[in-house]
Amino acid sequence: MKTITVRAAKIYDVIIGSGIFNEAGSVVKKVSGGLTAAVVTDDTVDDLYGNKLTDSLANNGYRVIKYVFPNGEASKNTETFLSLINFLAGEKLDRTDVIVALGGGVPGDIAGFAAASYKRGTGFVQIPTTLLAAVDSSVGGKTAVNLDAGKNLFGAFYQPDLVLCDISLLSTLPAEVFQSGCAEIIKCGIIADRNLFESLKSPVQKQLKDVITRCVKIKRDIVNEDEFEHGTRKLLNFGHTIGHAIELLSDYSISHGFAVAAGIAVETAISYKMGLCSKICLSDILEMLRLYDLPVATSYSADEIAQACLSDKKRSGDYLTMVLPVETGKCILKDIPVNKLNETIQEGLEIDV
Ligand SMILES: NC(=O)c1ccc[n+]([C@@H]2O[C@H](COP(=O)([O-])OP(=O)(O)OC[C@H]3O[C@@H](n4cnc5c(N)ncnc54)[C@H](O)[C@@H]3O)[C@@H](O)[C@H]2O)c1
Repeated sequence: MKTITVRAAKIYDVIIGSGIFNEAGSVVKKVSGGLTAAVVTDDTVDDLYGNKLTDSLANNGYRVIKYVFPNGEASKNTETFLSLINFLAGEKLDRTDVIVALGGGVPGDIAGFAAASYKRGTGFVQIPTTLLAAVDSSVGGKTAVNLDAGKNLFGAFYQPDLVLCDISLLSTLPAEVFQSGCAEIIKCGIIADRNLFESLKSPVQKQLKDVITRCVKIKRDIVNEDEFEHGTRKLLNFGHTIGHAIELLSDYSISHGFAVAAGIAVETAISYKMGLCSKICLSDILEMLRLYDLPVATSYSADEIAQACLSDKKRSGDYLTMVLPVETGKCILKDIPVNKLNETIQEGLEIDV
């Protein structure tokens, strides 16, 4: 078992192991003194792991309540969020009680925002069940739901009290959901760790625990330095400027990881066109995405993407901050003037290596 400690607004551990889900109730009990545990999950994850978690929590003395919503990004909206808040209020959840997010990034982001805002903050534990949630969304305290105008526009920074990551839960993931998580791992390698990037040339399944641990450490270091995303943390948004636009344009029929993969490809192409990275860097990155059967292009036009980008949080005034690679393992932040966005994206879309 590996323990990685995050030192942000809260100090908390990310525990990574295999089989630790069996001990979830007692592990949660160590960080939360409340009487009630509110499990928040989606229907797919509930069918697979819901009962095991509620039993474990109940066996450790909690009154257990559970809120289940339909799986998928389409549920990550204000309706689900408010319905959850009303459910918690109806169950008289207390500030000392704990909300336990069980699932991928969607349950994690919704439950986290509820934990941040219900009675101005309750206990909060993340139990990631997707690769994406294990390497990225469960750590660092970003919580949100989507609005019609764009992704994650309604949310808060709220760190969990604990992240319990049991790798054995990933064994039931459909191939596409696993692949989606690989996009965030590839991103991690490109922004901060060339060795991680190189190691992904061998199948990630064979080195899962090591890779998850490395990604969590990268995220931990970045969050420790810049919890509220004034600077360094923006690097984690590599691929996400274009990626979020693609998700929005597809009405969320394209998954987060696949949209981010296409975003990584286009943003790397933009970097190459600007003379910031070499052709070898560009082809290495595209080759890695192809190795994991992830998309390296999008059918949306530069104009459509630019319009969608403008409602993103990464816009500030007349500029939009894009993360651009200079080599594998190193990215920089580049402010793109809004009036140049369309042609910049067009240049990225024209690359075919
Ligand atoms: N908060 C952050 O820092 C952060 C970072 C990256 C992404 N995100 C968000 O995360 C979301 C994407 O996360 P995701 O890809 O985990 O999506 P998700 O939570 O919708 O999970 C994807 C699918 O996998 C299913 N699933 C989950 N665990 C399973 C398991 N163990 N076995 C079988 N099926 C399982 C779910 O039911 C769902 O259908 C997006 O909304 C994105 O914006 C947040």
